Amino acid sequence: CGIVGYIGKSQAAPILIDGLSKLEYRGYDSAGVCIYNNALNLIKSKGRLKILEEKVNESTINGCIGIGHTRWATHGAPSDENAHPHYNEDETISLVHNGIIENYLRLKERLEGEGYTFKSETDTEVAVQLIDFYYKKCNNLLDAVISAIDEIEGSYAFAILAVNEPDKVIAVRKDSPLIIGLGNEENYIASDIPAILKYTRDIYLLEDKEIAIVTEDAVTILNIDKEPLERDIYHVDWDIEAAEKGGYDHFMLKEIFEQPRVVKDTLLPRLPLDQDEILLDGISLSKEDIEKINQIYIVACGTASYTGLVGKYLVERISRIPVISEIASEFRYRDPILDENTLMIVVSQSGETADTLAALRMAKKSGAHVIGIVNAVGSTIAREADDVLYTWAGPEIAVASTKAYSAQLCAMYLISIKIAMELGKISVEEFRELRDELYAIPKKIETILEQSDKIKELAYKYKDSKNVFYIGRGLDFAVSMEGALKLKEIAYLHAEPYAAGELKHGPIALIEDGSLVVGLLAQEELFDKTVSNIKEVKARGAKVLAIALEGNTEIEKTADEVIYVPRTHWYLTSILENIPQQIFAYYIAVGLGHDVDKPRNLAKSVTVE
Ligand code: G6P
Repeated sequence: CGIVGYIGKSQAAPILIDGLSKLEYRGYDSAGVCIYNNALNLIKSKGRLKILEEKVNESTINGCIGIGHTRWATHGAPSDENAHPHYNEDETISLVHNGIIENYLRLKERLEGEGYTFKSETDTEVAVQLIDFYYKKCNNLLDAVISAIDEIEGSYAFAILAVNEPDKVIAVRKDSPLIIGLGNEENYIASDIPAILKYTRDIYLLEDKEIAIVTEDAVTILNIDKEPLERDIYHVDWDIEAAEKGGYDHFMLKEIFEQPRVVKDTLLPRLPLDQDEILLDGISLSKEDIEKINQIYIVACGTASYTGLVGKYLVERISRIPVISEIASEFRYRDPILDENTLMIVVSQSGETADTLAALRMAKKSGAHVIGIVNAVGSTIAREADDVLYTWAGPEIAVASTKAYSAQLCAMYLISIKIAMELGKISVEEFRELRDELYAIPKKIETILEQSDKIKELAYKYKDSKNVFYIGRGLDFAVSMEGALKLKEIAYLHAEPYAAGELKHGPIALIEDGSLVVGLLAQEELFDKTVSNIKEVKARGAKVLAIALEGNTEIEKTADEVIYVPRTHWYLTSILENIPQQIFAYYIAVGLGHDVDKPRNLAKSVTVE
């Protein structure tokens, strides 16, 4: 979900709608605004922001204070009624909320006992009614909010307006991001920087359980005991253009084509050519610390979690430290074995994913050292990890991750090589060879992007496949996971990644005429083995699209189609091999007429568990 708030001298509605449009990637099944003008005027609507915008334009609503929200449903289906903002019963308080209130049913029952009735099925309405309950006792919005959050369990970012205190918006958060934008005689509230970047680059980052009282000309940050807090201004130095489409049909395509730059930005500053060293700015681990590591966990969700599997192959093969690559939502509930010699690497584009954050906190509690590979600067994971290695991918707007994943792979290459160097597992010559290859990656990605017309043709040819398998061994298997996920996410095709050698133990029963198998063949030493598996599926009627290294033309005898990627060091094949998978999935989704940037049922940033 996304939050925007405004207080100043301009009309609030256009600013809120514009801000929400930058946040649609955080959720987009309904949206709403509340504007103060002697009363709290609410306009909300199920569906895309465009519908809300039309409603707002048709209304005569005006006013210079307001809050807005774009929603990704958790409690209660997408509907006008369940959309935010929500009111208290007599419509004197209005609130927007990101997150989940875990004890909302108990609170609701209690409020019903006090005579409250509810219009929506949301946990959010419970919050605003609870604030109302306290407001009626103390007649002070700040005190009412403090009393309410004292009882609310779960995660929240709130922006709150009260008709009797029309000079302020109150913002408060716990486990869900919220920032305050500082303007000239106007101030902003947002759940994410792009929402307000057009208006200001100076922001405050709110921490958990901090309250901001935002007026036209001041922002006061208080702790829960109402003590004022000092806060440094964080200056955003990236550009809004980076968050817009720049001539491409979709953000996803734009982001795919940004990858040469993203890879350069993430790698090169850390790989000076005049030193035989990797400079990992944010990492505090010394050589001695690294020598003590007895196991590594790489924990994440979705696309980011596939970085972990690549990391596992790389670290185990060279550095001989056991690595467990695991999904955060599983890791956190199975009492994993962690100690102070455990290194935990969490990977997250948004830096806000609830399960990943919970895994991080668990690991920290047990004394493990946590490194975050994070894209969103200042995000919660970035702040809470012991060390952060930022991926410089810039804002990723398309829900399906592309450039962020490539940047995560780069970060994984750097960390794994660094560990190997500290442990003396690779020589200076081997390091230089890898560094040269890393420097060559952006150009090699460009040559793959140049093949996008050919990949588009293949995508259109196979877009009606009913069943798609992605198969590979070793690092190719790790990459197959991401290929299949992309196809599911945006093309809504049933796609399954499978270890090529395991196929014959079951899934091969699903292969029939017209099945499509994408065979990944970038691991040279496993090439013949995977080719055998490709022959097995060919014999059962599958069509085969192979992704292979340039020069390995042998595969043309077996596969129906081949996409070649440039040769590189075996260590680095994943990043190259994945690019055709992204383009293939993108064009299948386009060919099928889907909303590529905003696939159904998905959200970019999942701050619920
Ligand atoms: C959501 C997104 C995925 C993403 C995952 C993890 O499910 O739709 O694309 O991979 O969250 O997000 P993170 O921000 O932690 O990388």
